[in-house]
Order: sequence, then structure tokens, then C-alpha cells
Amino acid sequence: MNKKEQIPDLFASSEHDELTSLRKELAEQNYKYYVLSAPTMSDREFDEKMHRLQDLEAAHPEWYDPNSPTQKVGSDIGKQDGFPRIRHRYPMLSLANTYSREEVEDWARKLPDEVEIVAELKYDGLSISLWYENGILTHAVTRGDGTEGDDVLPNIRTIRSIPQRLHDAPERLELRGEVLLPWERFEALNKEREQQEEPLFANPRNAASGTLKLQDAQEVARRGLTCYLYYMLGENLPGTTHYERLEQARSWGFPVSDAIKVCHSVDEVMAFIAYWDTERKNLPVATDGIVLKVNDLARQDELGYTAKSPRWAIAYKFAAERQLTTLKQITYQVGRTGVITPVANLEPIQLSGTVVQRATLHNEDFIRQLGIAEGDKVYVEKGGEIIPKIVGKEESNQPEAISSQSFAFPTTCPECGTPLVRVEGEAAWRCPNEVSCPPQLKGKLEHFVSRKAMNIEGLGSETIALLYDKGLLHSIADIYSLRAEDIAAQERLGEKSAQNILASVEQSKQVPWSRVLFALGIRMVGETTAKKIAKRFTSVDSLQWATKEELTSVEDVGEQIADNIIAYFADIRNLETVTRLQAAGIQMAAQVQDTADVPQVLAGKTIVISGTFTRHSRDEYKQMIEDHGGKNSGSVSKNTDFILAGDNMGPSKLEKARSLGVQLMNEDEFLALINA
Ligand code: IVH
Repeated sequence: MNKKEQIPDLFASSEHDELTSLRKELAEQNYKYYVLSAPTMSDREFDEKMHRLQDLEAAHPEWYDPNSPTQKVGSDIGKQDGFPRIRHRYPMLSLANTYSREEVEDWARKLPDEVEIVAELKYDGLSISLWYENGILTHAVTRGDGTEGDDVLPNIRTIRSIPQRLHDAPERLELRGEVLLPWERFEALNKEREQQEEPLFANPRNAASGTLKLQDAQEVARRGLTCYLYYMLGENLPGTTHYERLEQARSWGFPVSDAIKVCHSVDEVMAFIAYWDTERKNLPVATDGIVLKVNDLARQDELGYTAKSPRWAIAYKFAAERQLTTLKQITYQVGRTGVITPVANLEPIQLSGTVVQRATLHNEDFIRQLGIAEGDKVYVEKGGEIIPKIVGKEESNQPEAISSQSFAFPTTCPECGTPLVRVEGEAAWRCPNEVSCPPQLKGKLEHFVSRKAMNIEGLGSETIALLYDKGLLHSIADIYSLRAEDIAAQERLGEKSAQNILASVEQSKQVPWSRVLFALGIRMVGETTAKKIAKRFTSVDSLQWATKEELTSVEDVGEQIADNIIAYFADIRNLETVTRLQAAGIQMAAQVQDTADVPQVLAGKTIVISGTFTRHSRDEYKQMIEDHGGKNSGSVSKNTDFILAGDNMGPSKLEKARSLGVQLMNEDEFLALINA
């Protein structure tokens, strides 16, 4: 081989090394960022390295790898491999279950006479396995396929009742239980999702499952999961019965339910079932049955396991309550984003203690699958779901004329008459008249004034509806033409509220361009995306003329969002609104801020933000740190100069800071420092 040929080879091999190490480093950072929520690299450094990797890959297509961090976007990092997979030490089995009390009796009678049976509630959530090593919670593994599950420890750490550290516990210990979202939390979450027109969770179990999968532990904490533990595993554990183990777990501080009874006869077991069949409705969490377990651990061993479940336990499941009623009429609701939802109006019936007269029919396909039409006799069920659902129709005894009646989904919007459209791949029909279809316009107004958008106080949904009905609000721009006397003349409002509303309207003229862009309510342009777009397109004038290519070059902006932005500015009514907002003095461009003027008091300092703040948001503090020359970091190390500490700072960060002697600074001290 001559010298000439060797040179490119050498380059290639050093480039290949660089590429390999960049891929590794960026994949690690993705994991820290998305899974641990604790990045150790600044966004800027991450972006620079990502660009370098992209360049290297472009120059060497032969080194293409579908698993390279360049081939993945943030959200699918979470979905595909966000949590580490872990092999269970002991397989996570299920329970044999039955809906028949006779079968429960048979199972119990087959056991030797004197055997004690522990009766417990069957919690309807997700099973979790908590691993403790030397008293420290090290893993929290979901059931997965029973052999391997996901380690969702950061999310489980948000459950306050689960101890993170044990005293005087065996070296290795595993506790199993159920993670749940209490009814109250579930309902609040769904209410929030309804307002934002996000799909609702059908039941607390789905909500808990969706929550455990989140890559954002702060959001998980906000949702408020809870947990009950019902099974302990390990070596050299104390106690000879299941009940003693549960008591032991309770004394170590684990959340163990009080609804547990050691039964000495089949009658006692059946009485427990009968009692909880009704009483469970008063519990704060969902249950779907009763679990019966042989108390004596030696007996459990004797009875052993089948391939799928232990022979020493059985689950009795409560049947969902079901009733037959008449589907009187199907009506159609138009949501804030124009989605048309069919609603079943039923002959009222009593179901699990409440009167049911309406049920959602979701969409056209759902109705067609059930094969129902107005006048049919339908079955309504309320099981683990809080929302009653129609599960089928009564096929027999249907008068010929009625059951053959066909069903037709409307072709025009019931609110504004605009022909409906169905986006390919979506189940929903939608009214495309975003600008003047009444519920959509009211939705746009509500969004515009909301706290994270223009933050205008005093204009709640009822006031908006009132001002809309009176002809005073027909576009978001009308907000800036409201007159005190018009507001004050309305019932329930008066002069004081008129003054307050107008003061807040005036204040909203200070809201920065990125939030104004979010407030416009362009479909799919959320808070974070708006920020990214506003950074690149620093005024509405530049955004208005942006091409699809320019738009999609912004991080997080895909083809669909780009199309929505282009469609927004192609509508003359939106252009008119934008012009009026501009004329009213709304910030439709970024304020020119010369960072050279900002004192670089944090130059060379690495700062970690932790906890919650009252004066500014976390993102604002992050920006302030960067603007003043500092560097943000996600985790505490010996290189950390100080921690900007809010309320409820994570215990592990606090401990680390203490052990490394890193200074904590509260937000007032921090603001004083940068303003000095
Ligand atoms: S004991 C080997 N006890 O039901 C026995 N399970 O269908 C382990 N569950 O996967 C399970 N409440 O998620 C047990 N008190 C309870 C339970 C319970 C709910 C769930 C658990 C399990 C499923 C079995």
C-alpha cells in the first residue's frame, strides 16, 4: 500500500472514532434528558454535537445506522426505549380469576379444612415491583410481559407514600403492589383534558398507565399517583404467614391497605365479598374484585404454581353493572377544535347508583361497529369506567321498522352549517370553519386569554359566551376594542369588573411575541413549539411569508404544523385579525435585546435549577442564566457553582448538594445577584 492511499484511510478511521463516540454520548444525553429528566449537557452543546454528527453521517453514508441519535426525535425516544428493560428476579404472574361465587366456594372448599384464607381487595391499576437493596429503593419495574418490565423508578419516586429508604430491612427485598390514580385525581385530569380537547382516559387504570409511561416526572408528580402493596418477596424474610409479611411491610412504612381479613371459614370469605361488593364504591381508588390467598407460606409452597398463576390464590371479579334502555336520539356536539362528537340520549336508567341519560358514541366508526340507530334497545354498562358506555344492542324483539332504520352521520356542522371534513387517518369528522363557528370561536377566545397565553383576567368562559352572544366579541381582536360602558352594561358584570378586565387587557400588550404566537391558537402550535418558532421567525411579518421548507427546519415543526401555519396565514380573516392586533399594540415581534448590554455576572458559572418557583418560571430562570453568561446543568456535581433552589427541591439533589458542599441560592438572592 503506498502512502497516498494511506492518508484518507487514516482520516476515515479517526472520523469513524469521532462518529462512534458522538453517537454514544448523544444517546446517553437523550436518556438523561428524556428518561431521567436530568441532562448533564447544555442544549447548546447538545445541538453542536448533533450537528457535527449529522455532518459526519452526511459525508459517510456507508456508516448509516438506523439507531443513530440523528435518526430519532425526542418523543419516540421516550416511546421506544425510554425506560431501561429489566428482567424480573421472580416472574410476575397473574391470578386465576372468576366472576362466579360458586367457583370461589369450590376453590376454598378444596383447601384443607383448617387453612386460613387472607381476603384482600383487588386493586384495579398497574402492578409494580419495588426492589430494595441494602434498604435503598433501586428499581421499580412494571409487569411488562411478566418476565421483563420497564424500570420506571423516576416516576415511582413521585409517590410519597413509597419509602425510598428503609431501616433494619433485609439486604434484598422486593415488594409488589398496585399503582393507582385515585378517582378524584382521575376526574380532575380528565376535566383538564376535556378543556384542552385531548382524548379522555376511559378509566383510572388507563390514566395510571399513561402516567407511568410519561418521561416527565414533574408531570407525573402533579397527577398524584398512589400505591397499595400486597406481596413481599426475598430471601430470609421474617414471618411464616402472608398476613405477618404484610404487617411487617406496614411497619417498615409501606402503604398496605386496611381492608384485609384473615378468614377461617368459607362463610367469612363470602361475607367479605358481599360487604366489599357495595362498600368498595366509597373507596378513593378503583377496585375490580377480591383476591383470596392461602395465609400459611409453607402451605403456599405445597400448593405451588401452574405455568401462569399460583394455586394458592384466586381472584373473584365483580361484574360490571349493565342495563337495557332505549336510544332515543343521537345528537352532535361541536368541540372547541371543531371535532364533532356524537352523543347518545337515552331513556334515563339507574346504573351503579347514578341516573344515566347520556353516553358518548365517540365517532362514526364506533356507531357503525355497534350497528345502532335511534329507537334501538341498547345495553349500557358502567364497570371500571366512570363514563357509562353503550356495549351493544338487544338483537331480539326489535320492531322490524325500527331496527332496520339506518344511521347517517351529518354532512354539515350542526352549529354553523359548514360542510364537515374527515382528515385521512383520523376517526373524527371536523368542522373546518375555525374562524366563525361559534363553539370554535369561543374556544379560541378562551385560549387567547388563558394564563399561559395573553393572561387576561376576568374573561372566563361564561363572560366570553355572554359578550359573544351580545355581539361584542366576534374575534380575538375585538378584545382590544371592548369599551368599559359596554362591559359594565352587562348583567353580572358592572363597572368594577369592567375596569379590571380593561386593565388586564392593557397589561397583555406587554406579553412577548412567542406567547402571542401561542395565543393565536394555530392548530398544533403549542407553547413550546411557539417558542421555537418565535426564536427563528422574530416577527409575524417574517412568519407570514415563511415557506414550508423554512418552517420545517425549525426543531419540532413537522409537515403538519407547517401546513397549519401556512393555512392560517392564507385565510384573509386571520390576516385581518393579525393586522388589528398589531394596530392595538400587541407585541407581534420580538423585542430587540442586545445581550452585549446584559452584565455577564454568571460567566463561567455552572448552575443547577431545582424545585418550584413563584416569581418566574423555570424556563425563564434558565433563559436568565444563559443571558447572563452562565451555563445550565441538570445534575449536581463537583463542578456546580450553585443551585438555584425553589420549593420542594428533590431530596436526592439536596443530599448531593450537602455532601459536595454546593451552595443553595433562593430566587430572591438569585435575582439580587443578577440585578446587582
Ligand atoms: S397478588 C402471585 N393481590 O391483579 C400473586 N394481586 O390478575 C400476585 N392485583 O397482576 C398478585 N390487587 O396487578 C394480588 N391484593 C392483590 C391485588 C392484586 C390487584 C392485581 C395484580 C396482578 C393482577 C392479577
